Amino acid sequence: MPRTSALFALLSSAALFSAAGATPVSSQLAKRYQGVRLQRDNPPEDSLCPPLPFPEPIPVNGVSLSTAHWKDGDNCRRTLNVSVGIRTYSALALGECTSCETNGLGLNDAFWYNLVGNDTEIAYITGNWIFTD
Ligand SMILES: *[C@@H]1O[C@H](CO)[C@@H](O)[C@H](O)[C@H]1NC(C)=O
Ligand SMILES: *[C@@H]1O[C@H](CO)[C@@H](O)[C@H](O)[C@H]1NC(C)=O
Repeated sequence: MPRTSALFALLSSAALFSAAGATPVSSQLAKRYQGVRLQRDNPPEDSLCPPLPFPEPIPVNGVSLSTAHWKDGDNCRRTLNVSVGIRTYSALALGECTSCETNGLGLNDAFWYNLVGNDTEIAYITGNWIFTD
């Protein structure tokens, strides 16, 4: 392994171990995406997380992640904080948003209605988000 990547691996594992027992590492390291486009999106069935073996509690602030963040489903059911203005909402990643910009989010009908209401003229709003798990 080249020296630089060995050093990087060492530094990364040191960072991971030092956090053991505290807040989950992933949320300590989570990046906040700011000023991104939040749009209404209801993914088709083949772009959703696989169904759970028991009924899901609904409604939920469901979001769909851009293809870059969906990562072929690896980030399925991760939790997020989505902030719009001064309010923060907890949300759950439930699908892939193929029309979202790289750091944008799709919001399901329930979440969109909660934030925007029933104004069909609004194409998107701007907000921030971060993975919380
Ligand atoms: C939203 O708007 C549509 C079309 O105007 C209307 O049919 C529907 O009842 C509205 N829903 C709510 C919850 O206001
Ligand atoms: C998510 O939002 C909750 C409620 O506002 C807050 O307590 C928590 O610190 C937030 N988590 C992150 C990682 O920003």
